[in-house]
Amino acid sequence: MLATLINDIKRLVVLSSGIGSNLQAMIDTLHDQDGITIAAVVSDKPSPSLKRAIKADIPCLFLPQQKKQSNTDYDNLLDRFIQLFHPDLIVLSGFMRILSAKFVDQYPNKIINIHPSLLPKYKGLNTHRRVLENGEKVHGTTIHFVNQFLDSGEIIAQKIIEITQDDTVESLKRKIKYIEHVFYPKIIKQICQGNP
Ligand code: GRF
Repeated sequence: MLATLINDIKRLVVLSSGIGSNLQAMIDTLHDQDGITIAAVVSDKPSPSLKRAIKADIPCLFLPQQKKQSNTDYDNLLDRFIQLFHPDLIVLSGFMRILSAKFVDQYPNKIINIHPSLLPKYKGLNTHRRVLENGEKVHGTTIHFVNQFLDSGEIIAQKIIEITQDDTVESLKRKIKYIEHVFYPKIIKQICQGNP
């Protein structure tokens, strides 16, 4: 019976190297609830994400890339750690690396990311600034599967916001993050329940 219960629990490994506000939303609304657990957190920077994981008693790893280490070698090491935790889903949030084809091919439809733009528009960095510079009327955030190309995997879900005249880079950043903190956990939960 216990074995059955353990097997039913969906295990997330979260790769998060930034402020970690999305990680915090997952800790607050998903972790050890409704058959989901955050099994581990990895950061390639000495980021607040690690502190958030430690505070929540979640195993975490600071894995910076070494000077002479190739991306492939880095990904192999990353994968060795991740495999210890048998993830059902690998969740990226502010993990600013492009994962190699070898890595992503091992986890078909099991790696997701959230990107602050309405993909396929505005891949990469500085999305809020570019959206404003181009006079866009709408902006948003996208949850997508991860492949070996930047912000290019199949789109799972998007949220759209209207841009107002007084919006700035900072206000858009704030609005998008506010949405992401509810949207990302909701979609992760749906995927874990077999309902993407
Ligand atoms: C989010 O805005 C997400 O869209 C992008 O990186 C940011 C991560 O923020 N991929 P945080 O570290 O979760 O606060």
